[in-house]
Parts: sequence; structure tokens; C-alpha cells
Amino acid sequence: MSIAIIAPDRDTFVLQKTLQAIFKGVKIFEYPDIPRPAEVEMVVLWKHPKNFLNHFSNLKLICSLGAGVDHIISDHSLPTEVPITRIVDEELTISMRKYVMMCVLNFQKDIWSIFDFNSRKIWRNNPIVEQSLKVGIMGLGALGKDIAVHLKAVGFQVFGYSFSEKKLPGIRCFSKAKNELDLFLGSINVLVNVLPLTDDTKGILNSTLFDKMVPNSFLVNVGRGAHLVDKDLVDAIKNGNIKGAFLDVFNQEPLPKHHLFWQFSEIIMTPHIASITNLENAGTQIAENYRRMMNGEELLNVINVEKGY
Ligand code: GLV
Repeated sequence: MSIAIIAPDRDTFVLQKTLQAIFKGVKIFEYPDIPRPAEVEMVVLWKHPKNFLNHFSNLKLICSLGAGVDHIISDHSLPTEVPITRIVDEELTISMRKYVMMCVLNFQKDIWSIFDFNSRKIWRNNPIVEQSLKVGIMGLGALGKDIAVHLKAVGFQVFGYSFSEKKLPGIRCFSKAKNELDLFLGSINVLVNVLPLTDDTKGILNSTLFDKMVPNSFLVNVGRGAHLVDKDLVDAIKNGNIKGAFLDVFNQEPLPKHHLFWQFSEIIMTPHIASITNLENAGTQIAENYRRMMNGEELLNVINVEKGY
């Protein structure tokens, strides 16, 4: 009986320590040092090498080390029947909320112009500061709901969009189920993408969508890089549909030096820092699920493989 952590690009020392402190007798292996895969009952994954999971013949539980599970679902060696869980952590939710808040407040104060004026020693009261922002949150899962509620609480007009119908007090919610994407896009001038990455949402931030947005809108992408068609964002900036964007996730990370985005002052890139899993909290949650699995109890934050989230 043992646990394997397969997260090649992460320092998982704190996670190992947390799990070890809870499970004194259980062996915890870390990729690539997994001598007896057949003993492993639970794997903890973050961007693991694909087609690797079939080494584990006694797997009972798969845990994502983050909120997203697209890195797991896209692995075709994924055993069927083994439940997959993800991290839903208040700290993760709060840091995502703060990141999006930072973006929207920067849009609100037109910080781009302020930086420009500062560099030229210009004191200018830019009337754009008075503009009213209508923020649309695309994806109303744990993170999206929290962002919507808190942006509303600080005084923004907030709208929501999700695939299935959702209700949030005081927030107008649109859905794909009711074919309301165009209505949603026409109601907002800031789009925040926090959708999970699935076959249905891949490339959703494309020219067709940008063309339906109110001119001079803003974009925040904290979902996944593959939601965005990079060239279409550049076109949307050039043709005035998008005035400014904050991107935290990219089709290729780290963003290559030759990438087009670096040439556009309208795009602010952050290196996937919007919300980073706290390994101690994650370890506690993963351990709780391991305990539940061993006792045949219901697991926490299980994802639906069909839906992809
Ligand atoms: C981060 O990107 C996560 O999915 O937790």
C-alpha cells in the first residue's frame, strides 16, 4: 500500500511532509523514483508524463494537485472506474478572487494610460476613469461564483455565463443551455474566463466571440491557455474589439520569447500566478480523500470525467 506523487515540474517537499505526517506507515514515492508501481493505490498528479498511468495495476484513486483536471483527462492511459478528485481550497479561491479584482481595478483606473502619463511627467485626469465596467464571469464553478459575488460586493455590475443554468443572488446569469452567449457578450465590457478546459471550451476565446463583444472591451484569462486562440486576440486588439487584457495562462508556458504577445503593451502577461495550490492544504485534502477511500466513504470534490470538470 503506497502513494505516488507525479508532478515533475513542482517542488512537492511540503506535500510529501504533510502526507507523511498524516500517514506514518504509508510509503510515499515521488516520480521518477517509483520502484513498485503495483503497490500504489493513490496517485497525485500535476502535468504528469502521459501514458504512464497503466504502470499502476492497483490504482484506487487519482488526485489532481490543482483545481484543474484537464492535464489528467487528456491522458488516454487514464484507467476507467478509478475516481478522480481535484482541489477545492478556500485559499486558492481567495487568491484567484484577488487576482481578478486586481485586473478589473486596473481596467477601471485605466492604469495603462496612467503609466504612460507618468513616464512623460503628465498630470492628466483621464475621464475614462468614470466609465462603468460591466464584468462578465464566464464559468460559474467554485472560483467563478466567488469572483462574481465579490466583484459585485465592491460595486461592479456583474453578469455570469455558464454551460448549465445557474442562479446567483443579484447577478444576472446567462447559459449555454438557453443559447444566451450573444446576450451575455452584448451586456458586458469586461470578460473574465474561468471555464474549465474541455473539448467544448477549447479555443472558445476566438474571433467569433471577440467580434460579438462591445468595442473596447477588456479580457482576463485565468482559465487555461488553450481557451484562447492567440492570433485572434491580437486581431481583436488591432481592430479595437479588445482594449486591454490580462493573461495568466498560455498555450505554451513559459511563454516563448518570440511570442507575438510580448509586442503588445495592451496585453499584460503574468506567469501563471493567479492562484497557486497551497501544498499543505492540498495534502490535508488529499489525505482526507485517501482515508475516505480506505473506509469506503464518499469522496470529496470528485470530478465527472464525461463533463471534464
Ligand atoms: C492551477 O492552474 C490549477 O488548476 O490549480
